[in-house]
Amino acid sequence: MIKVALPNKGQLFEPTMNILAACGYKVSKSLRSLSTLDTENGIEFYFLRPGDIPMYVAEGILDAGVTGMDFVAEKSVTPTKLLDLNFGASKLCIAVPNESPWNSLDDLSAGKARIATSFSNIVRQNGFKGPLVELEGAVEISIKLGIADAIVDIVETGTTLKQAGLKIIGEPLFRSNAALYAHPGREFQEEILTLKKRIEGKLLALEYMMVEYDAPESVLKDACAVTPGLESPTVTSLQKAGWFAVKAMVKRRESQKVMDALAKLGCKGILLTSIDSARI
Ligand code: PRP
Repeated sequence: MIKVALPNKGQLFEPTMNILAACGYKVSKSLRSLSTLDTENGIEFYFLRPGDIPMYVAEGILDAGVTGMDFVAEKSVTPTKLLDLNFGASKLCIAVPNESPWNSLDDLSAGKARIATSFSNIVRQNGFKGPLVELEGAVEISIKLGIADAIVDIVETGTTLKQAGLKIIGEPLFRSNAALYAHPGREFQEEILTLKKRIEGKLLALEYMMVEYDAPESVLKDACAVTPGLESPTVTSLQKAGWFAVKAMVKRRESQKVMDALAKLGCKGILLTSIDSARI
């Protein structure tokens, strides 16, 4: 039985739960639950604050976990990154009130501005010398409440900043996405490898689609060139002489163009279907 940390709140919570459920794990969480047991898969899941997960995994208290790269960087600990996940893309940005004259972290340092943040190590590493106000969350409201002049916080869509009347200044201090981490040395433990492979399979399945079509012999070579698949397309002969059935994986974002090209070549019965999971 291994122990795996999952974010208990924030922007990472829902997509993490969704991908694990889609990978066959039992991760249902009621409002107050702190952990749940998935006996079938040999995993005990712990619901923790995303900022605490790097420490639990790096110190080996838990075997693996999902959290943001920014939370790992802030804690200056080094769990092993196993897999980038396709959600939680965000930037750690400096923001000030819309009417503020400040334009950079240097301006804020020189002006002895107070910065509120949950990422004080990253702010310091970027050279800020002024006072820091360390907060656990809801950082955007701190300026209105009078305890800070600027903030450094995670921006995903920018909606929260806009609602608080704040604007981004300068370049992001960090770019992040969600990732799967393991305690160094436990990467090859069976349950962790299985977890990684299942998630990888799901991510791959989201990236690709399956195209199937019938092609006359005269265009078979050109059609296969349009759908080369990962290794090679599957080609089988139809009962009708001179016709073949072809099946191949295509990139989801290119799939409509592929269908256009196949139809133009004279292929028939072109079907495009989603893939639920895949192992290559
Ligand atoms: C994060 C971040 C911002 C918000 C930004 O909070 O701290 O508050 O998301 O997202 P947006 O740019 O799409 O508006 P989260 O909900 O993860 O939790 P927190 O309030 O505990 O920081």
